[in-house]
Order: sequence, then structure tokens, then C-alpha cells
Amino acid sequence: MEDSGPGRAGSSPVASRAVTGFPEGYDLVTDDVLVGRLRLSVTHPRQAEELIDEEEYALDERLPYWADLWPSGIVLAAHLTTMDLAGLRVLEVGAGLGLPSMVALRGGADVLATDWYPEALEFARANANANRLRELPTMEADWGAPPEALLAARPWDLVIGADVAYENRHGPQLAALILRLVRPGGTVLIADPRRPAASSLVTEMREAGWRHEREEVRYEGRPDEQGRVIYLHRFTEPPRRP
Ligand SMILES: C[S@@+](CC[C@H](N)C(=O)[O-])C[C@H]1O[C@@H](n2cnc3c(N)ncnc32)[C@H](O)[C@@H]1O
Repeated sequence: MEDSGPGRAGSSPVASRAVTGFPEGYDLVTDDVLVGRLRLSVTHPRQAEELIDEEEYALDERLPYWADLWPSGIVLAAHLTTMDLAGLRVLEVGAGLGLPSMVALRGGADVLATDWYPEALEFARANANANRLRELPTMEADWGAPPEALLAARPWDLVIGADVAYENRHGPQLAALILRLVRPGGTVLIADPRRPAASSLVTEMREAGWRHEREEVRYEGRPDEQGRVIYLHRFTEPPRRP
């Protein structure tokens, strides 16, 4: 792992209870998460570390970070509750358990949640179902090798991601992918707990001509080792000259 890498997230008050409708073979826990004024449940494996697969790691250094709910995901989801998303096409990259996607779905957006772990997408769909939302569309997609189906599904009005730039390769991969997928004049929202690796994402988006604004949001739940301040990066494309 380059940079500091994500540590374990402490999410908002956790209430454990028996759950059904989720993939079998996991020791599960359910977090009741306050997202703005919304309360949503997020069920996930209790210990992400137990899911580490040495062979997968040897192949492409993938680690099962999807199995935790990260402070950036909660901050991004809360921000989405303040936006009018009805009718927008919203793509989430590195969706993990899918909390921001659930909020977008609830807000009437046409959503696609993506991750390179199919297990994450199974949980994201089951979580949407457990919160009595519409079915959550998902697609397995690696930022470094995006599937044709993802490219064919562009353009997206809004591309979102939470805690997705934590290794040096991520910023360039994500910027290249997002710039192919977002609609000209669209918006990109990335929540990030101030990881050094996120700076190359910002640089590459700016160099591509996108306007960048950064909001500092204080996360009130249990922070991870990055602290309580989450950066909410908003990228918009200035109108093109005729
Ligand atoms: C730190 S977790 C954040 C998960 C979720 N967004 C949240 O905030 O709770 C990073 C996520 O990015 C996904 N990811 C990492 N590298 C990826 C890649 N190359 N392609 C697609 N997804 C990737 C991981 O599987 C994981 O779900």
C-alpha cells in the first residue's frame, strides 16, 4: 500500500442485529447511519481484514476495503441529501457498500454503482433492498481497465466517489476514467479524507480544464486515522467558448 492507505473507519452509532437477504458465509453487522436527516441501515462484514485474499493481492494488489463504511462515504451521502438529483444520471466509482448511491437512488436519480469487487456490489444491492429502495443497478468495473459496457453507458451528469484515491495509481486512473465518462458540463464530487494520493486526481482534473472547489466538512462520527476533516472536491467544467 502506498501513501497511508485507509485505516478502519468507525461509522456512526452501530446497532448489531440479525439480518437477512445478504450474501451468506459472512459474519455481518448492521450500522444505522445518520445521513443528513436520513437514517439508513448499512449491513457489512464485521471484519474486513478477515476477507483478505493473498492471491488477489498478488494479482493486482486488491484489498477488501469495500467491506467497511468510510467517513468520506457518509459525508458524501449527507451532501447528496442536499442536492436535487431527480432525473440525473449518477455514476458512483468505488461504491463499496453503496451508501451515496442509495441516497442518489432515493433522490430519484438514475444510478449506477460500480466497484471492482463483485462482493461489494452484492452488498450494495442488498443494502438498497434492505432500505426499501428501488433496485440498485450495479456494474463490476476496474478503473484501470473499464469494461466496454461502462463506456457505452456514458455520459453521466454526476460522477461521485468517496475515499477512492489512496494509492498513487488511483489519481491518474480515476481522472482518465472520469473524464471519459462525465457529460461535458457535468459535475464530479469526490469526498476524500485528505489522503496525499488524492492530490494527483485534483491536479489532473484541473489540467484537463475543470474548475475545482474544495469544501472542508467536519465528520462527527468516529474518525479514522486521517482525522475528522473530509475534503469534498467539486469539479465542474467551465462553459466552452463558441
Ligand atoms: C476505501 S474504500 C471506500 C468505499 C466506499 N466508497 C465508502 O466510502 O465507504 C475504496 C473502494 O474503492 C474500490 N476500488 C479500489 N480500487 C479500485 C479499482 N481499481 N477499480 C474499482 N474499484 C476500486 C474498493 O473496492 C473500495 O470499495
